[in-house]
Amino acid sequence: MGNEIQGGLKTAAASKVAPATGKLGVMVVGLGAVSTTMIAGVEAIRRGLAKPIGSLTQMGTIRLGKRTDNKSPLIREFVPLADLNDVVFTGWDIFQDNVYEAAAHAEVLDKDMLTQLKPYLETIKPLPAVFDQYYVKRLHGTHVKTGKNKRDLADQVRADIQAFKKTVDRVVVIWAASTEIFIEPTAVHASVAAFEAGLENDDIAIAPSQIYAYAALSEGVPFANGAPNLTVDTGAMIELSKRNAAPICGKDFKTGQTFMKTVLAPAFKARMLGVKGWFSTNILGNRDGEVLDDPESFKTKEESKLGSLDFIFQPELYPDLYKDMYHKIRINYYPPRGDDKEAWDNIDIFGWMGYPMQIKVNFLCRDSILAAPIALDLVLFMDLAKRTPELQSIGIQEWLSFYLKSPQSAPGLYPEHDLFIQLMKLKNTLRHIMGQDLITHLGLEYYD
Ligand SMILES: NC(=O)c1ccc[n+]([C@@H]2O[C@H](COP(=O)([O-])OP(=O)(O)OC[C@H]3O[C@@H](n4cnc5c(N)ncnc54)[C@H](O)[C@@H]3O)[C@@H](O)[C@H]2O)c1
Repeated sequence: MGNEIQGGLKTAAASKVAPATGKLGVMVVGLGAVSTTMIAGVEAIRRGLAKPIGSLTQMGTIRLGKRTDNKSPLIREFVPLADLNDVVFTGWDIFQDNVYEAAAHAEVLDKDMLTQLKPYLETIKPLPAVFDQYYVKRLHGTHVKTGKNKRDLADQVRADIQAFKKTVDRVVVIWAASTEIFIEPTAVHASVAAFEAGLENDDIAIAPSQIYAYAALSEGVPFANGAPNLTVDTGAMIELSKRNAAPICGKDFKTGQTFMKTVLAPAFKARMLGVKGWFSTNILGNRDGEVLDDPESFKTKEESKLGSLDFIFQPELYPDLYKDMYHKIRINYYPPRGDDKEAWDNIDIFGWMGYPMQIKVNFLCRDSILAAPIALDLVLFMDLAKRTPELQSIGIQEWLSFYLKSPQSAPGLYPEHDLFIQLMKLKNTLRHIMGQDLITHLGLEYYD
């Protein structure tokens, strides 16, 4: 008999997720537009000045049982997530500005709101960063650590994490710093031993983001990467993540254009409509845009943005529809727009008997307004993963692909980019760890 609920996959003994007691310390690498918008938003929500719009952990519900059961609790009431009142922020940046000053500079939030939040925001001051201009050409850091080699710098970050750990109960680290140059994995990334030797020898393929990630994972702390740089997507980091029960989860916040792509592309494929070309262009004028104006940082972003369509369309399975699709992405730095990005997509599709059609998407978005709730959700879910016996030592948290342009999956397994499959995977993971039945949407039992 058909059964919408896949009872066979019910978790036999619900793994006991540890409660979220005490303070959750969030260490943010890079206190720029995204981070300061996240931190200011959390404080505004705590004070009743704003609602957590865009955050699945705060506003989302999850259906449990049959459709006729009418049981859809809030996600944050179903799984033990840290309460926003228990979240404590700190971070690192290459500039000395406190979070109020950095938020004012980013010009995402209006002055009135920032003035109300100022007494809190100015208490958060960045720790000196690990930085080397070789990896981000457009920035000149002034608030940076010095050390005899990369191992020394990693030890200093570990000391920062250890000191913060003394003031809170649990810690998560998230990278929301600038996009680094494109780096391909080399032998130094193959194992923890090779990586540690590389730290000692100042291997050029070890960028600052990898040093933070190594430090966090060595401390048993989950690490999320909001940018497209090569950071935790290496053999060394997967090994370290598993060894120290410190979750990792892929990279690059899926906010604007790629978010739209991973919604539209599955729709075309579902209807077996072909795509001949997909041209995407953007203008943005924030510091991220300035960094991405450097061809080496752009290359990192481009690779991350390009991946999704190929994985969704599976041209090897559907050569008639997608084999020769032309996919082009441009990002143009245009200062007048600041954080208000504008994206255009021209999609050349074709239908029955090959007749061509076009779709134009013009998304006038606010980059950091879209990214902030994603950063928050990742932090809260990574903390949950760390408290979940079944998840904490598996390394990659594939169920968090929902949030990322470049989802990470087990070696040899293709990543899942379709937003709705990703959402189902996320929710089923939550049901699973809480010992609830999974939902397959079969639903034949309603027609008995
Ligand atoms: N906003 C979005 O929609 C979005 C989407 C996907 C990815 N991202 C990525 O998130 C990151 C942050 O974006 P943003 O708009 O906040 O950029 P931003 O330039 O405003 O902030 C980045 C901050 O990181 C700091 N920084 C750079 N290198 C550092 C280092 N090694 N250590 C510590 N701090 C460092 C910079 O000084 C800056 O304050 C970027 O890499 C961006 O590509 C953003």
